[in-house]
This record gives sequence, structure tokens and C-alpha cells, in this order.
Amino acid sequence: MTKENKVSADFILHNLDSAVVYPNPYRGKGTKVGWETKELKHASIASKNGKIVWIGNSADLNENVKIESDTYFYNGEGLLAVPGFVDSHTHLLYAGNRADEFEMRVQGKTYLEILAAGGGILNTTNAVRNLSEEELFAETSHRLDMAMDSGVTTIEIKTGYGLDLKNELKMLRVIDMLKEEYPLRIVTTFMGAHAVPADRVNDSDSFVDEICQEWIPAVAETKSAVFNDVFTEKKAFSVEQSRKILNAGLKYGLKPKIHADEVNVLGGVDLAVEVGAVSADHLLMTGDEGIKKLVGSGVIPTVLPGTSTYLMESHHAPARKMIEAGLPVAIASDHNPGSCQFLGANMIQSMAMLQLRMSASESLIAGTLHAAHAVDMGNEIGAIEVGRNMDIALFELDSFKQIGYHIGQNYLYDLIIGGESIYKD
Ligand code: NIG
Ligand code: FE
Repeated sequence: MTKENKVSADFILHNLDSAVVYPNPYRGKGTKVGWETKELKHASIASKNGKIVWIGNSADLNENVKIESDTYFYNGEGLLAVPGFVDSHTHLLYAGNRADEFEMRVQGKTYLEILAAGGGILNTTNAVRNLSEEELFAETSHRLDMAMDSGVTTIEIKTGYGLDLKNELKMLRVIDMLKEEYPLRIVTTFMGAHAVPADRVNDSDSFVDEICQEWIPAVAETKSAVFNDVFTEKKAFSVEQSRKILNAGLKYGLKPKIHADEVNVLGGVDLAVEVGAVSADHLLMTGDEGIKKLVGSGVIPTVLPGTSTYLMESHHAPARKMIEAGLPVAIASDHNPGSCQFLGANMIQSMAMLQLRMSASESLIAGTLHAAHAVDMGNEIGAIEVGRNMDIALFELDSFKQIGYHIGQNYLYDLIIGGESIYKD
């Protein structure tokens, strides 16, 4: 029997062993968070112009999907399909390395002590200022390749190692170059307020004014950045300064994000709720009160278990409490040269399970759908659902539960982005 209203497709991921769908996906502020996953066995997924048009049992394909002469069939035998991972918080663009500081930390120095002594972010800033756009592109492309190899189909990248207008704009241009060269989706965040440059520490208020009055208008003009992020922390930016910066960004259409409660609780969560931040990230030290404030706020709490592990913290973000409170917790890598060298999405899945005690389903949803919400793309990517972009990570695994389980190992077979195979065809 043929159906009248078959959907037409130009790409079919056919005969998959299984595909993971989310029966109750979070759909944004005011809606319920669902943590269930379902593995559809013997599945096929059809897309047209890069958007998913049908998902179902492979045996039902012909009855539901109109096959044209040029419809492309991708053989999914032996493969598991999960939504492409969204890494919603990275500092992927930088130069050099801080292996010496890593060793210093292992031997007892703290992250903030190193920053206050002119190392840390300021160390990387010197390295970034000394490289050309082409050199920065080359260093970063290596890492971007590794992120994709782990299943990432969308990545957020922050500036914040320029720390003067010229070099912040240079970083934006390099991210634009990456966007042009790479098939994955790249979302840009301006983070001029990442650290106070060494020569401005006694005069940080005027540095903040400069960011608000000069940098943000110039950044907005490039149209390269979507978000405006700030490091609200002792030895970085106070709540008052952060408020100024996030509000200045809002005036120019840059959506707020915030690094909050990473080392100390200063009030970053309250500020995130006050300015309507898209996400509040880290939240390592966030207590019950902070969690209460986040409930119903629409701010996506993004926890970064790679960072707390890499910083050797005895404590991790209270993800379980957040989940119990009904929050749409997201996870991301925070990959950067100082506080987190973990990079692959599979590694972050493992860290979420081991350190935050999240289940495999919770970790997967947090690293795909909720992370998509954390870059304000929660209705376009992050789940295998009709109407969304056909962004899929294909693994040679029997179940998504094996992604976090096989710690440090990678079973990625291919990525599909916008209905196109990245590695195989
Ligand atoms: O998210 N906290 C501030 N920024 C990064 C670290 C950046 C760096 O150390 O280079 C973070 O942990
Ligand atoms: Fe960060």
C-alpha cells in the first residue's frame, strides 16, 4: 500500500542498527525537562535540504518516504546514530601550551595564584598576540579536527586571549576563517572580559569602560559574535563590572553568557538570572540557593566536569541536585590551555558520568540537546527529530551507553552534518 502524502528526501541514513531519540525533549524556558532516551532498533533517518523529514523502522521507509532517482542512500549497517555533540563552551582558539603551569598546579600552586602572578590567561594572551591569523588558524584547526573526530557537530569558540581591541578582533577573524573552512557549525562568543591585562590591574574599572564603550560596538559591527561572556571571579571581574559588560553587550545585540561560581561564589548566578543570560557556566561552587534561583529562569546551567577534574578540585558542580531541581543541565568541555585540556565529547561524557554521577542518558542529553539550548539553538540542533538539522554522530557501538564507558577511546565512524557525510563519502 502506498501513502498519498509521502515526504520527499534527498538523503537517507538507511538500515542503522539503532538511533537514539528523545521522547520528551526540553523546548526552552517554561517547559519541562525530559531525561529519557529511546534506542530505535533497525532505524532509518531521512532528510531533505539538510533537515530531518522522517525517522522510523527501516522496513517502513518505502511506505513513508518518496525516493527520487537522486536520493542518496547511506549504508548504516552496524552503526549507532546519536545527535551530533554540541560543545557549547570552549576556548579552542589559543596559541602555545601551559604544560609548565600544569606541573606547577600538580605540585601545589593554585590556578588563581598563577593568574595573579601574570601567568595563566595572561601567559596565553602573550602567545596569541605574537601569532599571525594564519598561525592561529593552523594551531586551532588541529584541535578542531580532534573535536570533530569525537562526534562534535557544533562548537562554540570564545575570544579572550587578545585582551586588547586589535587582538580580540584578530581572534574573531580567525574564528571566521574556521567557519569558512570547516563543515561543522561554529558559534562565536566575544570574551574581552576574560582577564584584566597585567598593565591594567590597578585600573580595572577603566578597562571595563573601554570594553563597554569601544570594544563592544566594534565587535558588534563585525557581526561575527553571537554571545558576550565574562569571567566573574576574584582577580578577574566583579559582579558590578560584569553587569556593566553584559548590559553593554545586550545593547548591541550580543547575548549574555557568564563564567560563574568557578572558584568563588560572587553572585554570578544572580547576575545571570537578572540579565537573562543564555547560560551560566562552571557552577562548581553553586549552592542550594543558587540552584533555586536558576529554576524557571531559562538560564541553561552548564557544568564542565573536565575542568574541575583538571583543576584537581575535590568538589564538582552539583549536577545531581540541579537535575533533581528540574534544571536543563548542559555539559561542555571548556577546552582551554590552562584549566582544562580535555577535548573530546566522548571524554566529557565519561567525566559527566564519573565525576557528576550523571546517567548515560542524562550525559547524552546534556551534551547534545541541552548544550544546543546553551548556544540558543535548542530548536534547530541537538536531537534526532523531524524538523531539526540532520546533524548526527555515527558510532561503531551497540549502545550509546558505551560512549562514556569506553573512557578515552573513540569509536566514531562518521559525522553527518546538514545531511552530508563528512568523512566517508
Ligand atoms: O573557563 N575561567 C576562565 N576561563 C577558562 C580558563 C582559561 C585559561 O586558563 O586559559 C575557564 O576555566
Ligand atoms: Fe571557560
